[in-house]
Amino acid sequence: MSQAVDEIKIGGLGASRRRVEDNRFIRGKGNYTDDIVLPGMLHMEILRSPLAHARIKSIDASKAWDIPGVHLVLTGDMMATRNLAWMPTLSYDTQAVLATDKVRFQGQEVACVIADDPYIAKDACEAIVVDYEPLPVIVSPMQAVAEGAPVIRDDKENQPDNVIYDWEVGDRDGTERAFAAADVVSKLELHYPRSHPSPIECCGSIADFNRATSKLTVYMTTQAPHIIRAAVAMVAELPEHMIRIVSPDIGGGFGNKVPIYPGYVCSILASILLERPVKWIEDKSGNLISTGFARDVYLKGEMALRKDGKILAVRMHTDADHGAFFSDAQPSKFKIGLMHSAFAAYDIPVAHLTARGTYSNKAPGGVAYRCSFRVTEAMFFQERMVQAAADDLGIDQAQIRAMNFVRDDQFPHRTPFGFLTDSGQYGKCLDVALKAIDYENFRREQAEARSRGRLLGLGISTMTEPLGAGNSREYDILGIKMFDSADLKVHMTGKAILRTGAKTQGQGHETTWAQIVAHELGIPAEDVVVEEGDTDTAPFGMGTYASRSTPVAGAAVAMVSRKIRAKARKLAAHLLEVSEEDIEWELGRFYVRSAPGRGVTIQECAIAAYSNMPDGMEPGLENTAYYDPPNLTWPFAVYIVTVEVDPQTGVWDVLKLVAVDDCGVRINPMIVEGQIMGGLTEAYAMSNMQFITFDAEGNCVGANYMDYLLPTAWETPGFELHSEVVTPCPHHPIGAKGIGECAAVGGPAAFVNAVMDALSGTGVRNIDMPLLPDRVWEAITYHRDVSGAPPVRSDD
Ligand code: CDP
Repeated sequence: MSQAVDEIKIGGLGASRRRVEDNRFIRGKGNYTDDIVLPGMLHMEILRSPLAHARIKSIDASKAWDIPGVHLVLTGDMMATRNLAWMPTLSYDTQAVLATDKVRFQGQEVACVIADDPYIAKDACEAIVVDYEPLPVIVSPMQAVAEGAPVIRDDKENQPDNVIYDWEVGDRDGTERAFAAADVVSKLELHYPRSHPSPIECCGSIADFNRATSKLTVYMTTQAPHIIRAAVAMVAELPEHMIRIVSPDIGGGFGNKVPIYPGYVCSILASILLERPVKWIEDKSGNLISTGFARDVYLKGEMALRKDGKILAVRMHTDADHGAFFSDAQPSKFKIGLMHSAFAAYDIPVAHLTARGTYSNKAPGGVAYRCSFRVTEAMFFQERMVQAAADDLGIDQAQIRAMNFVRDDQFPHRTPFGFLTDSGQYGKCLDVALKAIDYENFRREQAEARSRGRLLGLGISTMTEPLGAGNSREYDILGIKMFDSADLKVHMTGKAILRTGAKTQGQGHETTWAQIVAHELGIPAEDVVVEEGDTDTAPFGMGTYASRSTPVAGAAVAMVSRKIRAKARKLAAHLLEVSEEDIEWELGRFYVRSAPGRGVTIQECAIAAYSNMPDGMEPGLENTAYYDPPNLTWPFAVYIVTVEVDPQTGVWDVLKLVAVDDCGVRINPMIVEGQIMGGLTEAYAMSNMQFITFDAEGNCVGANYMDYLLPTAWETPGFELHSEVVTPCPHHPIGAKGIGECAAVGGPAAFVNAVMDALSGTGVRNIDMPLLPDRVWEAITYHRDVSGAPPVRSDD
């Protein structure tokens, strides 16, 4: 009779355990960067450029220095004397810390003031006089490559134009041949607009340099503390072991808190110069105007089709607008991130992608906002193209997907762009979603409503996302291989502390990592405390973005638990006085194979590790695992949305949304559902209401929450989630795949496809996101496509 502990009762895999971190958050006891107050702390504010492109003729900071309470004014020239005016970016480019020669985007950092309080610092910023000579402005890739375009990065040698990269992948000739043989070629041009992750907490840092110990401690909002430590060591030329980066509680990251921002660097230099702690907390407009933009990609897409709907080939050209500095984090090998994950779920013989990246006079862009390095754009383009192809062929949208999906028996499957997908049940997910939305019935209702002038639409979107970079063979950032780590110390009373190289920003790692330990060792999850974000104590890791935590750090948690179990087995053999080979494991307990009643618990092994270990055994019960995944994990999802569009106003309402997500084994089903709902909410916002762009002069339009709307519970539609399709990842130790971003990645196309479906027959082929009422109304009224490409009319 088994004496194993009950996995669900101890909060193991599959338990919808309440989030332990919420104990402090709902009591207002979180510890965010801005909560930290250090003795003698000063405050830093940044002076930003009002112009998008201008030569700096002079900067006069004398009046700022004269203001009582001001301790330091930093300008680009001062930074330059310390070789800190420019810094390397995570994409092998350089970025101005404080502008010296030119400003290259509106909101760029020009000077910093460090003062007794932030108000004095802000006033002093306004006392700085900068003489600018305006230059012509570029706000789109088309302008960037136009004849005679001004060269934005004239600071760089060997940069004669505004092109950052020209990259291609796939089979150009094979694709051409397939297009020549096609019955129908379907074409679509789209823009995935700029968007902003806009976490509730902005970016910030408190640098604290102690001259006596030579130690620099930086409390900061970063999703990747170890990468920051390495970067600070390189940029500031400080010894790495004398740098401690602490990322305390983070109020949302969504990719915004991966890059290195000038504010961090300036606060560090100021602390070194003043030998006092210096705090910089970005304000909301600073956050929205300068840090963390995402997307901004144009697509020219073509599909070669057989009459019956079979996709023969795909050709894509993308133009990505990276802003003034190419500074987002992405794998070194892949210039446009993982854009070539497009069509991974479809069985397409051949494809070709060309990708060009260009500079513009916008804040740096391209951050992986809740997505794995451009996968959001890839999936959006894919699903919009599939819908257009279905319309061109007059084929049902569900049918074209079903007939082109990779079948369950085709795994492992090589995608047309070279990825290896390993598992999935794509057809089943679609079937579940179609049933849940009552597909046939809706189509009848839609036709009937149409006859009475009502516009109903149904949009399908599917996505498979490559999550969990590395493997380290293919994935690195600045040459640092992408793996991750976990360190587990089991104390003598059987309680434990787990540290990983990841960094939660609200995803619930403190809850779910403990569940993996519970699953592997039978130690109740409540007996495991999880700590992340302090480089002095956490093992080296690449941080949390691109939903890589569960695929990589989560796997490391399982692996380190198994190392602990292996040692505990030896201790159990010693305690039970049998050889190790005679020992069996069941959850929480070792027992003698021939006498199952004779056993010891994992807790008894723990105390023995400190008090009764066999001769020659190293005392203690702790270990570290570094995990280099063999492959990415590939979750899959189908999202179906139904909408009604008001032809008089262009307003559209969601009638129903069903989501079928297959992320393999779910560690904590409640947290997974929370992740899906959050992603769908962001997808809805991107498609419906978030408008941030740039006018012809490079002014950032919509950098406030009156224009760039964050949906609240009031306007967010309800979601119906389905969890019955589970395809474990074959190479992940617990069969899990990532989930954090899936709905934000796959969701937008479902909403847009639904509105386009409602407009079918009107001659409208595309409306660029966001599908604001005026854009939808314009499309309906004038029977024309509506482009969102800047220079944009925000009010004409
Ligand atoms: O990297 P990030 O934490 O943003 O994304 P993730 O690895 O997809 O995980 C998001 C949250 O969902 C974490 O708390 C995970 O442990 C949890 N999760 C889960 O419970 N089961 C899965 N199969 C995947 C994630």
